[in-house]
Amino acid sequence: MAKFVVEKSGPLVGEVSISGAKNAVLPIMAATVLTDEVCEIYDVPRLRDVDVMCQILRSLGAGVTENYEDHTVVIDGSGIDKSEIPYDLVKKMRASFFVMGPLLARTGAAFIAQPGGCSIGNRPIDLHIKGLKGLGARIVQDDNSVEAIVKELTGSLVYLDFPSVGATENIMMAASLAKGVTTIENAAEEPEIVDLANFLNKMGAKIKGAGTDTIRIEGVEHLHGTRHTVIPDRIETGTFMVAAAITRGDVLIKNSVPGHVRPVIAKLIECGAVVNDEVDGLRVRGDLRKLVATDIKTLPYPGFPTDMQAPFMALLTTVQGTSTVNETIFENRFMHAAELSRMGANIRVDGRNAYVPGDKRPLVGTSVMATDLRAGAALVLAGLVAEGRTEVADIYHIERGYENFMDKLNSLGAKITRVDD
Ligand code: EPZ
Repeated sequence: MAKFVVEKSGPLVGEVSISGAKNAVLPIMAATVLTDEVCEIYDVPRLRDVDVMCQILRSLGAGVTENYEDHTVVIDGSGIDKSEIPYDLVKKMRASFFVMGPLLARTGAAFIAQPGGCSIGNRPIDLHIKGLKGLGARIVQDDNSVEAIVKELTGSLVYLDFPSVGATENIMMAASLAKGVTTIENAAEEPEIVDLANFLNKMGAKIKGAGTDTIRIEGVEHLHGTRHTVIPDRIETGTFMVAAAITRGDVLIKNSVPGHVRPVIAKLIECGAVVNDEVDGLRVRGDLRKLVATDIKTLPYPGFPTDMQAPFMALLTTVQGTSTVNETIFENRFMHAAELSRMGANIRVDGRNAYVPGDKRPLVGTSVMATDLRAGAALVLAGLVAEGRTEVADIYHIERGYENFMDKLNSLGAKITRVDD
């Protein structure tokens, strides 16, 4: 297993460019199953999760050409002739489950292993199942697998008890080829949903309302190939904004979309950071004022993103005063708190709340472990300002979701090396 060795690095200064969004490109790649024509996707980040999605599409019979030099993936769905995704691929990445809807719509069947939980929660799929059943699918599931078959998907009204991102995406993709109209109520509103809907509409789908809580999909007979550039990754954007603040640096974050990170901008400003929307990107300065505590509550978009909770908590361990962090999305997303406490952060966790005392004393480098990709990123950021050396193990989590994370940070003045055990 590989680890990052992070030395206390001083203020990060310079500019960094954001890669394409992991959580947009994965459902978009899954959506290429809906057509037997060729799709070209640009600004694809080089990530482990993208590699796994390529393997999944190949296992179904698609032709997949990855050209990471220019961040392009070309997918030819004409050869898709299977309806089963092997367990060894599903267990590598939960987002494999996003293929269920498109596979059902394309082939009339989908046999996928239960995606199972992960470290941040048990990650149920009941809303995905509810939506696909609502479109007429017969679904049988046991502890190990989910089997869905349907003669013809038919549009219907689907109410999501929770605005699940994945369920909204799965249902929207399946409904694109259903007979009649589907309305998803209490839909997720994330920018990645909008990017997926834009991709599907370029394929010939008829989707309205993506980005709101009500999405209307008028099914069509056939979807064709298309070309699409993936939106920038708003969580990578937020992570580098926090990197500038926690190191009291001055960083210009290029290829970012300010409108996708409003809650993170607001909370950084509450802490005393200076954030300017400049022509070339978002400029974040943590060096102009003393940074102070603030409170965070994670919510579905447009609320504060749960994926930014861990990186932001790292910042809160270094500011004046005690902050409260309320995680409302996932039931077990505070494992980084224990690792930060090993560095001296003295965080108290009580159910869905974490109480983060600020800069009583500086963090001290030690050996810590990444438990998920956002927790791993948080620990690296903490290591940039901790006294001495911090070793972050299990960095494969980080490499799943952040393209060239170490190189981008080092280009801003960080002192990180990668060691393969
Ligand atoms: C997506 O996961 C993202 N992953 C996650 O990012 C992100 O944290 C999450 O949305 C929330 O924004 C991808 O897009 C690949 P959900 P997803 O369904 O779709 C409950 C990262 O770090 N729920 O919106 O799985 C669930 O238990 C990853 O990049 C049900 O109850 O998230 C959770 O409490 C981590 N039943 C809440 O909804 C269901 O059928 C949010 O889950 C589905 C979900």
